[in-house]
Amino acid sequence: MIKTDISDLHKDIDNYKDKEIIIAGWVKSCRGNGNFGFLNLNDGTSFKGVQIVFSRDKILNYDSVEKLNTGSAIMCKGYIVLTPENKQPFEINATEITIISATDNEYPLQKKKHSLEFLREIAYLRPRTNLFNAVFRVRSELAFLLHEFFNKKGFVYVHTPIITSSDCEGGSELFRVTTQNIYDEFKKFEPKNELFGKKTYLTPTGQLEGEACAAAFGKIYTFGPTFRAENSNTNRHLNEFWHLEPEVSFMDLEGLMELEEEMMKYIISGIMKKCPDEMNFFNTFVDKELFNRLNNVIDNDFARITYTEAIELLKKNNNNFVYPVEWGTDIQTEHERYLSEVIFKRPVFVTDYPKDMKAFYMKINDDNKTVRGCDLLFPGIGEVTGGSERETDYKKLQTIMKEKHLKEEDYWWYMNLRKFGSVQHSGFGLGFERILMYITGITNIRDVILFPRTPNNCEY
Ligand code: 4AD
Ligand code: MG
Repeated sequence: MIKTDISDLHKDIDNYKDKEIIIAGWVKSCRGNGNFGFLNLNDGTSFKGVQIVFSRDKILNYDSVEKLNTGSAIMCKGYIVLTPENKQPFEINATEITIISATDNEYPLQKKKHSLEFLREIAYLRPRTNLFNAVFRVRSELAFLLHEFFNKKGFVYVHTPIITSSDCEGGSELFRVTTQNIYDEFKKFEPKNELFGKKTYLTPTGQLEGEACAAAFGKIYTFGPTFRAENSNTNRHLNEFWHLEPEVSFMDLEGLMELEEEMMKYIISGIMKKCPDEMNFFNTFVDKELFNRLNNVIDNDFARITYTEAIELLKKNNNNFVYPVEWGTDIQTEHERYLSEVIFKRPVFVTDYPKDMKAFYMKINDDNKTVRGCDLLFPGIGEVTGGSERETDYKKLQTIMKEKHLKEEDYWWYMNLRKFGSVQHSGFGLGFERILMYITGITNIRDVILFPRTPNNCEY
């Protein structure tokens, strides 16, 4: 007889009526009165667990089972009994319970409610709590939905490198990758001493390599971890985050925004369908407005506004900002949130930023001041994606690279793409943890990634 997954029981319980099965998992709670007891078991295959009823006259080790602590691992043989009149539509009548490993009172996850801060300190155990179980299950389904969305549209999934020698985003700080003894290396940097013969970094983006692939396959996306070494301790920055980056040939900025909007609606409505238990849990215990907010995204068109128009609107509220704005200043989180939460009350694309504010690869507008970039801002989160139409004019790219003090020889192959069958193309980057925050209602990015890497935090 082989073990049955608890998820299979929930999917089709009628199929198991009065049958004998074996399940195995971890105890959520256990209580008894000396003669019979209830044990709640979860095996991780589904958000919902099962209730096991055990009694002294049926199992030999009643006293040990009744004493089991939360977190203990057991295997249970028993019969499925349908209980349609109860809260749980079925339970398991145990005929045999094997204790695989009993936890003692030191197990940190007792039944009481723990703070998110405490749980962050025991990140290796927190996936076992209801909240994090739901978060990471939704994370898994969300990744799958993104793959499904792009796969259905005929995008090729490419794997761009993690180690790179170019700094695509310019502004972002990068982690060095070296095999050298760093103390020797600080004395004098010698390319010949490096494994790669040059300075290398952990990549902040797969975009540049993605562009090379878009010129071969037409439509590609890459999805993997990317790295930023900035020392920012905010609720929405990680030093290692998961980054989904599509790149599409023969597409302009309008087409790109349409693609982004379609993708967002697809994954949000998809997750509501695929994860009803988890989403109900978030809507009840994390944010009672969650379903309203998510439906608002699905049912409405996203707003679109240029940077210049956004500054005009924001200026009217300058008295209430910590950082007042004028044309040429950065749009900070407080402004992003004001635009999406107060003015538009829905997701909004901000386009055509001043060129000094954005990376070198964005297509320059005819005004020679702004670029064809777009950031997608979500209420409560701020920037969720950043993208642009790419500059394809070799000369213009040379000029902007000079302005930004980038060495052409470091980007020779990227420049060459502008010579060899160069076509209009666009792409964007989605911060996977940022959209996961929006979908779960979780407000700290550290709580939607298993083992967050943030300044002073790399325990595992
Ligand atoms: O706006 P960013 O820096 O754009 C790029 O890297 C482009 N190369 C993307 C492209 O066009 N292919 O980053 C894209 C997104 C942001 O909108 C944000 O959601 C997320 O990545 N992001 C971060 N998420 C968590 N922690 C950080 N430190 C992040 N930095 C960016
Ligand atoms: Mg950005």
